[in-house]
Amino acid sequence: MSGTTGIPDAPPTADTVGPFAGSRALVTGGASGIGLATARRLAADGARVAVLDIAVDDLPGPLLGLRADVTDDDAVRAAVRSAVDVMGGLDVLVNNAGVGAAGTVEENDDTEWLRVLDVNLLGIVRVTRAALPALRASDRAAVVNTCSIAATAGLPRRALYSASKGAVLSLTLAMAADHLADGIRVNCVNPGTADTPWIGRLLDAAPDPAAERATLVARQPMGRLVTAEEVAAAICHLADPACAATTGTALAVDGGMAGLRLPAPPR
Ligand SMILES: NC(=O)c1ccc[n+]([C@@H]2O[C@H](COP(=O)([O-])OP(=O)(O)OC[C@H]3O[C@@H](n4cnc5c(N)ncnc54)[C@H](O)[C@@H]3O)[C@@H](O)[C@H]2O)c1
Repeated sequence: MSGTTGIPDAPPTADTVGPFAGSRALVTGGASGIGLATARRLAADGARVAVLDIAVDDLPGPLLGLRADVTDDDAVRAAVRSAVDVMGGLDVLVNNAGVGAAGTVEENDDTEWLRVLDVNLLGIVRVTRAALPALRASDRAAVVNTCSIAATAGLPRRALYSASKGAVLSLTLAMAADHLADGIRVNCVNPGTADTPWIGRLLDAAPDPAAERATLVARQPMGRLVTAEEVAAAICHLADPACAATTGTALAVDGGMAGLRLPAPPR
């Protein structure tokens, strides 16, 4: 099938116990970092899990890889259709695929603005739009979007990235309202800086990676970066059918960065 990897004969195996036993989940950007940790955790907690990503060759174990770029509407529709066909439906959608951008409003040109918004914002629109019919048929439907601390705090040289994640936060609230009557809950997580391959690449590109890492660590009150597994735990919490009264929320997973005002350390 165009835009997808080979589809196995049988659906990915699922455990029979766990909060997601019997659930079918799709995770975008699930081949790395936060998405991979989420896909693994959903599978460990009983779900059948498909991963929609541009790179799906090295996925572990029971994860079903569907190659698609979230900027390509036809490929997204084909991949979502494959996920629903193979797994027999869809209960959980994790819109996690995203890319970064550094710069002030002067530093990114229009092409870069459109590229990042195309992935981070319109990617969520395309995948959710394609998944809605299957989600409406679920009796435990949940969508979780990976937003960011950048949606709620002003960070230096993150104008484009912050604007994209601010839009994801607003979109999360609007979708939660629109699809309440469909029985689909919509929430998002707002991670602080998480120790993923993304941040590894960012540090590698810095003139002084150790100093850059120390700066990122210092701005989080806990004094360390967030782990991908901690963000995955928050995503799974919001997607858990036991969380059935929670919709239209943003859950910070940021080591206290958004909410705390601590006294400055003595100089
Ligand atoms: N790492 C952080 O500090 C941090 C903080 C806040 C929010 N986030 C958000 O978390 C999400 C995941 O980030 P991560 O740190 O795990 O990054 P990552 O680079 O480790 O993983 C991102 C995944 O998305 C996939 N992807 C990228 N563009 C795609 C596209 N066009 N179509 C399909 N898949 C695509 C990549 O192939 C990769 O597998 C992103 O939305 C990011 O904005 C990350």
